[in-house]
Amino acid sequence: MNAKTIIPNGFSIRRIQLSDFEDVKIVLAGLTAVGPITLSTYENILNYWDSLKLMTIPGEYVYNTYVVIDKNTNSVAAIGTIFVEQKIIHDGGLVGHIEDIAVNSDYRGQKLGKLIIDYLSEQGEKLGCYKVILDCDVKNVGFYEKCNYNQAGIEMQTRFN
Ligand code: COA
Repeated sequence: MNAKTIIPNGFSIRRIQLSDFEDVKIVLAGLTAVGPITLSTYENILNYWDSLKLMTIPGEYVYNTYVVIDKNTNSVAAIGTIFVEQKIIHDGGLVGHIEDIAVNSDYRGQKLGKLIIDYLSEQGEKLGCYKVILDCDVKNVGFYEKCNYNQAGIEMQTRFN
């Protein structure tokens, strides 16, 4: 599917870590309300994510949250997650769910959104997913189409808060 993602000069991509806490709150605030999360809660979440491994590939994670780092400032320019769901159908197949994509407002329009989607999609393929899916606002359909995603189905939800 994807050619190997080319990371532009001046940037790197790695798994989220504890020291990203302040930057991650800022970047995700561009997506939705983050709330008054403490460093301790953030650490517990990262530890929880690290504790969940795929059944199919030893050592590989269920939760894969990656950050794009500006190497000049050592700050988080973009963030995104691929969560890998283990199914019974499709011969015990895996589906990748892309979640919580955000580019820091100072870095938008530099193809970093496409970079993180390409990278997460590539991870999904590498981990053995037979497809990768995501939900998005209508206003972002064009962006995801630029990232080689097609509209398929309709999101339904029931909200509790
Ligand atoms: N609608 C249509 N096209 C869009 C678009 C949009 N909302 N946003 C970007 N594009 C296009 C760009 O023009 C570019 O096209 P080109 O290749 O022809 O030049 C291509 O998509 C890639 O854009 P890119 O520079 O990678 O986008 P970005 O880094 O600015 O990131 C978002 C895009 C949506 C991730 C970013 O604007 C963002 O973080 N928004 C706030 C949070 C959010 O809405 N997240 C998505 C949740 S579903």
